Amino acid sequence: MKDNKLLTLGIETSCDETAAAVTANGREALSNVIFSQIETHKAFGGVVPEIASRRHLENINEVIEGALLEACVEPAQIDMIGVTKGPGLVGALLIGIACAKTLAFVWEKPLIGVHHIQGHISANYIAHRELEPPFTALVVSGGHTSIVEVMDYNRCRVMGKTRDDAVGEAYDKVARVLGLSYPGGPAIDDIAKRGNPHSVEFKRVFLEKGSYDFSFSGTKTGVLNYLNSEKQAGREICPADVAASFQLSIIEVLVSKAADAAQTAKHGKLALAGGVAANSLLRQMLSAECEKRQITLYCPPSVLCTDNAAMIGCAAYYKYMAGEHDGLDLDAHANLEL
Ligand code: KG4
Ligand code: ZN
Repeated sequence: MKDNKLLTLGIETSCDETAAAVTANGREALSNVIFSQIETHKAFGGVVPEIASRRHLENINEVIEGALLEACVEPAQIDMIGVTKGPGLVGALLIGIACAKTLAFVWEKPLIGVHHIQGHISANYIAHRELEPPFTALVVSGGHTSIVEVMDYNRCRVMGKTRDDAVGEAYDKVARVLGLSYPGGPAIDDIAKRGNPHSVEFKRVFLEKGSYDFSFSGTKTGVLNYLNSEKQAGREICPADVAASFQLSIIEVLVSKAADAAQTAKHGKLALAGGVAANSLLRQMLSAECEKRQITLYCPPSVLCTDNAAMIGCAAYYKYMAGEHDGLDLDAHANLEL
């Protein structure tokens, strides 16, 4: 189905999800195929870069074919190809980029490299068709934690970011020491529902007054120290209580800073983005805080929060509309700044 809409084939391979999607006019996902490698990496307790690259290579063709088939779209109907150019695992990124370049060359379509975080933010345009910039976004993933003022579809200002661990990284590390399965975020989200969030008071790190930066490594170390001291004292720990207490200490800071930033930016709109945006307590507490401060909160469904290619297709569309595109010399950038 085309209906005179511009169709984008989006490709995402920055970490452990091999994903392709067809999007229409940057607002509609006609298909969103995700091949997750979680089961492969579970045995190692985290993503093994070399294995991730190999799995992408094995699955990318089938995932792209699946995305075209599900959208009922022929290659000739595609208007542009969008691909994640960074940040991420360089070997993993290169598979998606090589594939996108080949298709752009053979099909004679424009090629557009997309910043992964710009993609996460753009997931909100699919989930909320009425949402337009400017707005404030809280970006929380396995590799990033930042508060961003989205001035326009292609223009952002970083208001604050983590000075050490990303929030998803802290979740994954704490989950590992609690003996929970990978990925740790959903495991903590789940087990915390059965725990007492006030059983241990872990430190809330707010940094300097007025700062929108974050620091999670102290809280993470606080959990490790607590577990060690309980073990040394011969006391049994309750993983659900520790998970719930850790989660509350992190989310209180995220909610407070994001709501303050949205209020300062004065756009009256706050959008959530990234894998950790799927967290149930974050959604619940942010929703209550935004309601109190009369800020409209935008939360994409979980499938659009974690890594996917529909968000990449959407971000590529807005770059294309602004006249931006890349040549066949497009390269992967592991540490690309927003
Ligand atoms: O955005 P994403 O899929 O990949 C990156 O770009 O990093 O985010 C993955 C991160 C992982 O750290 C995972 O543990 C976390 O998102 N995550 C969650 C939840 N679902 C995924 N963290 C907390 N609660 C969740 N429900
Ligand atoms: Zn991501």
